Amino acid sequence: MAVIAQKCPEIDVTVIDINEKRIAAWNDEDVENIPIYEPGLSAIVKEARGRNLFFSTEVDKAIDEAELIFISVNTPTKTYGIGKGMAADLKYIELCARQIARVAKTDKIIVEKSTLPVRTAEALKNILDNTGNGVNFQILSNPEFLAEGTAVQDLLNPDRVLIGGGIATEKGKKAVDALVAVYATWIPNAQILTTNLWSSELSKLTANAFLAQRISSINAMSEICEKTGADVEEVAKAVGMDSRIGPKFLKASVGFGGSCFQKDILNLVYIAKSYGLNEVADYWEQVIIMNDHQKRRFAANIVKTLYNTVSGKKIAFLGWAFKKDTNDTREAAAIYVADHLLNEEAEIVVYDPKVKAEQIYADLEYLETHSSEEIHRRVKVVNTAQEACKDAHAVAVLTEWDEYKKLDWKSIYDSMLKPAFLFDGRRLLDKEEIEKIGFKFNAIGN
Ligand SMILES: NC(=O)c1ccc[n+]([C@@H]2O[C@H](COP(=O)([O-])OP(=O)(O)OC[C@H]3O[C@@H](n4cnc5c(N)ncnc54)[C@H](O)[C@@H]3O)[C@@H](O)[C@H]2O)c1
Repeated sequence: MAVIAQKCPEIDVTVIDINEKRIAAWNDEDVENIPIYEPGLSAIVKEARGRNLFFSTEVDKAIDEAELIFISVNTPTKTYGIGKGMAADLKYIELCARQIARVAKTDKIIVEKSTLPVRTAEALKNILDNTGNGVNFQILSNPEFLAEGTAVQDLLNPDRVLIGGGIATEKGKKAVDALVAVYATWIPNAQILTTNLWSSELSKLTANAFLAQRISSINAMSEICEKTGADVEEVAKAVGMDSRIGPKFLKASVGFGGSCFQKDILNLVYIAKSYGLNEVADYWEQVIIMNDHQKRRFAANIVKTLYNTVSGKKIAFLGWAFKKDTNDTREAAAIYVADHLLNEEAEIVVYDPKVKAEQIYADLEYLETHSSEEIHRRVKVVNTAQEACKDAHAVAVLTEWDEYKKLDWKSIYDSMLKPAFLFDGRRLLDKEEIEKIGFKFNAIGN
């Protein structure tokens, strides 16, 4: 929304959220305090905020005034009832629809921006038409393809913008055109794709499933590499140079995280199952199984390498965010690796340049596998990598922050207990250089 506001100064954009603390942070006088860290974002907010970009908790007022409403609320995996642990929880979406229906006195275009199961627009339309005030609602699907860490660049220069709508009807076509016009301000028409609603909804799940599948595929190869003497970086380079395969998303790692991949694949698996497509469901579920395995075996490898016990040993974690250039920790691999190591009574010291200590503790407490007391006793959060590694038995790289490449690894090595082990879960560091310093080096897929 910030990018739309920046690119379309004639459009008033109001971001509304029921979370008052979040909205207050978005309105913080110091633009560096906005709640999401994303390169380039604070500058855009600074430019547009107060001009045509507003953050507010006044939901009804904003609904009343809007012509286009983007529903962008969370769609987490259900934690209860039918589809628990797999289906998308659509209660927040439904609440939005009911609120819009109750408040709207003029025709509105409703845009699904959240990632949703295919055919959700049908349910939305039903709720809006049956509980509304007789005004006309057009529903569009406009899934978001940005990646955290590169969100601003992705929005300024997207590979494509996808808009699904009821293009068979005159009103539907007009609604699609209205949204196309917004994006066409800065995106070439050839990159704005229009489809039917169901194709658009399903394309987002498909894109995330394919992306996550590539990571699980290369991670599966990383384990074979470790057994056979092949190096996964070399394998990835060799296969990526095949133009049919391409070089992107072939980085072996401790596993993917983030709020989307796991949730969206589980959602896809659930959809397949609900249509009785069990083979399709099993096929995609394997991507998640492989990812969980990768996190577990990374932790198990640390334990095995440290002479089969990490009880009371200090292990430094470099990184907690699920990837670099974001402070988002949802489903971060570090959380699960830490949890496995806590099962083994390890002491963990974390340094991440953008993640706050309270978030790290909250992430571990959320798992409910260790008491809050134990988590606070065994996990410490510090402000530098050097501090994290001092007197540690081992250091594990969990996030590929650029700054970790430039650390003074020699002085880190000197401050650690010997033999000093380094586990690179992101294939970030140069094996030869690190081993020359004296580390016992252990990288995924090598
Ligand atoms: N985070 C990403 O990179 C990304 C990328 C593409 C798509 N998506 C999709 O976008 C959606 C949102 O993701 P997110 O990461 O921003 O989630 P989020 O949980 O960070 O944010 C959702 C916000 O919606 C608010 N909210 C919930 N119900 C509301 C209501 N009735 N009225 C007003 N506000 C309400 C919550 O308070 C919360 O602040 C999800 O469907 C996700 O799959 C996210």
